Amino acid sequence: MSFLTPTDALQIDQATTTEGTVTWQSPSNIALIKYWGKRPVQIPANPSISLTLGEALTEMTISYKRKSPEQPWIIFRFEGKEESSFAIRIERFLDSIGSHFPFLKDLELTIDSHNTFPHSTGIASSASSMSALALCLCTIEQRLFGTLTDEDIFYKKASYIARLGSGSACRSVYPTAAVWGDSSVVSGSSDEYAVHYHDIHDIYASMHDDVVIVSSTKKSVSSTAGHALMDGNPFAATRYQQANDNLAALLASMKSGDLERWGDIVEEEAMTLHALMMCSRPSYMLMRPNTIACIDALRAYRAESKVPIYFTLDAGPNVHVLYPDSYSEQAQAFISEVLMPLSEAGVVIRDQVGAGPKQL
Ligand code: DP6
Repeated sequence: MSFLTPTDALQIDQATTTEGTVTWQSPSNIALIKYWGKRPVQIPANPSISLTLGEALTEMTISYKRKSPEQPWIIFRFEGKEESSFAIRIERFLDSIGSHFPFLKDLELTIDSHNTFPHSTGIASSASSMSALALCLCTIEQRLFGTLTDEDIFYKKASYIARLGSGSACRSVYPTAAVWGDSSVVSGSSDEYAVHYHDIHDIYASMHDDVVIVSSTKKSVSSTAGHALMDGNPFAATRYQQANDNLAALLASMKSGDLERWGDIVEEEAMTLHALMMCSRPSYMLMRPNTIACIDALRAYRAESKVPIYFTLDAGPNVHVLYPDSYSEQAQAFISEVLMPLSEAGVVIRDQVGAGPKQL
């Protein structure tokens, strides 16, 4: 945490200005090596790597001014509608990170948030929204105190704060690819924040991720509850070792552009994640019958066509279909003809690796 500003420097009476508006657009990400299992506070049991998405974004605007005693601390609007239950959750979160931003308690915040991806698709927005929130808070700190001028430190602090909101969100503050979690094979990596991962072949920087929405029903077990169940999982220690080994092998395949090896590892990670759910105590399952139908169809198509098309899953039933840009035509035709009919209401959300968050 040595990059964090000494907090006594961040009192409102030291600020050069106390009023303004800030907007960030921040993306979701898809993990290739999965974060699954953690210890307090939001420290991952193993390192993970993700690709940053380009289309699934949260756009968040925060207007701030010095707080008057009769005004509420936070007003939160989602897609233009005031949401007091979200406001309470955000208040609780901001309270918990008060030691990193002591000036916040003296500001009144009006937060407007919306997502570019449709809701009721089952796509989790915690990574994009928590990273957008963390980036806005860091920009406010920089404007008030000038303490985050160094870009590297700015993004580390944003990632650190996003992690406290939702673990996987810490990887969303960087373009293309990010590693979170201490790993001997990634220099500068940390359990407390993610780092931008550069050492990859071009093929991955424009990888597609089309999400087949198999079900948009709210999950029976949240990710947070799923992480907690890893504590009693009899395979936990083996899994954490496997994740470390898989990260090292995946990074080698990302450097060389060995897509076949890459795809093998990515699919193994997805299957392992869901196997861990199935052998948790109590056991549960988030795949639906059409998740399996999509996986079977994709593997059969790959074997027959030799198109390098792979899948991954997050903690839900929807299938992320990954393929290089140079195979777009074949892959998209296959998705439309074969996978789309297996989706709920024909919904496939098309995405591609993106350039990371943007301040507007
Ligand atoms: C399967 O980051 O949503 O998507 O830290 O409790 O908010 P919390 O969990 P969350 O877990 C994501 C799990 C995953 C794998 C991953 O993104 O690495």
